[in-house]
Amino acid sequence: MIMVKALVQACLRLLWILTLAKCKIPDAHVTCLFSEDCVLPCNFKPSGNEIIRWYLHEVLLLSQSQQGGDQPPQDHRTRTYLIQDQLSRGIASLHLRQCGIKDRGRYRCLVNSTLGQQKSFVIMKVEAPIKMVTMEKSMNREIQCLSKDIFPAPRVQWSTLPPKDNLRPITHMGPNTEGLYSFQSTLRMFENTLTYICTVNSTYGSQSWRSSLQERGLIGEAGQELSIPCIAPQNLQNFSLTWTFSRTNDPTVILSYDSRTRRTSNLWVGRAGLKLDQVLMGDGSLFLHNPESREQTGTYTCTFTGFQSRHVVQTQVNIRSRSQLPVTEKMPKTTDQAERTGESHFQMLVIVVVVAVVVAAVITALLLYRKLRANQRQAGGTTVEDTEMQPTETIKTDDSPMDNCQLTEYHNNSYN
Ligand SMILES: *[C@@H]1O[C@H](CO)[C@@H](O)[C@H](O)[C@H]1NC(C)=O
Ligand SMILES: *[C@@H]1O[C@H](CO)[C@@H](O)[C@H](O)[C@H]1NC(C)=O
Ligand SMILES: *[C@@H]1O[C@H](CO)[C@@H](O)[C@H](O)[C@H]1NC(C)=O
Repeated sequence: MIMVKALVQACLRLLWILTLAKCKIPDAHVTCLFSEDCVLPCNFKPSGNEIIRWYLHEVLLLSQSQQGGDQPPQDHRTRTYLIQDQLSRGIASLHLRQCGIKDRGRYRCLVNSTLGQQKSFVIMKVEAPIKMVTMEKSMNREIQCLSKDIFPAPRVQWSTLPPKDNLRPITHMGPNTEGLYSFQSTLRMFENTLTYICTVNSTYGSQSWRSSLQERGLIGEAGQELSIPCIAPQNLQNFSLTWTFSRTNDPTVILSYDSRTRRTSNLWVGRAGLKLDQVLMGDGSLFLHNPESREQTGTYTCTFTGFQSRHVVQTQVNIRSRSQLPVTEKMPKTTDQAERTGESHFQMLVIVVVVAVVVAAVITALLLYRKLRANQRQAGGTTVEDTEMQPTETIKTDDSPMDNCQLTEYHNNSYN
């Protein structure tokens, strides 16, 4: 066994010398995280009497012999060190505490021994990853995309859905004293219905953050179930969803949902909820079961948070109280709802109108008929047929048309 081991070692040594003579070791590339500890690799063939030196841009950083003590370590930065135990195993990796932006550069590891000089290079980059991208709406219909403490300077891009040209954002970006970048990018808003998307990419391509905001308005009716739409961006997996409500005060949480645990925590039990089968598919629409005009008129904010992604929908909901409105305003309200919920409701509206017209025609016909009969009765006597007809006529003329017109509204009353 010992013989074999010795033979293998001899072969390796020969191979090592040949490698040293023939080819240069390619530069190693290391990306270190800002303010974290980092290791720059350097391996050598140990012989027991090496002197190890590390340089940054040809400036000596550290010098140490394998025995230690022979040469006191010259730790200029007090943040660099070698691990003595590793040297006997041929590892002279440089350990760096709390990397800063100024630590970037080309490092040289130089090992002098009886085997000769062994040299290798390490290109060290520092990255301060994007931790958060926020979006804010300012007073004068401007939207801002913000982030801070990023290195190198990221790329910021705006887009909208549906797509619009000439967005012309204004972006201010600059480093702080540590060299980390902050930015503030401002875009003027167009219409309410657009979705504004801010994409922030890291220079090294390791990250692509996306933050989006959509604003909309919605009119609901007291006592009638209302769905406040909120759809997740495409392919969002492992997300959390939060709904908040604010009227004049700070937002309060309505409910939150986590796609990984599939758990909902609902603080508005009985008043609001999600459709759980829809949420898993990315439809986080909130259902208000029995909204009240005063209590539940306000801003509903839906926030989808996923991996490097955040999508916010702010809906200004106005719950109209039916009792406060005169009867004549009831038809236009049905129109609002139809616009809101789309074509299927438009079709329903058409049906309602047709029914209303037919009913009106029937009433007119009946009234005319009654008048005719009354005239006949005044002229002649009452027949058996008349007494039988009378009750049905009265019901129809007084109640039936109303029932038809306000079928949906009648339904609502059952909630109250
Ligand atoms: C390292 O070794 C080379 C030759 O092997 C020698 O020329 C050089 O001076 C040595 N460097 C140091 C710093 O000891
Ligand atoms: C940001 O990265 C994403 C995904 O890698 C890419 O689709 C997009 O074009 C990039 N945007 C910019 C401005 O580099
Ligand atoms: C989502 O989370 C699960 C488990 O937590 C993980 O296995 C999966 O890779 C994640 N998917 C994405 C797209 O992040």
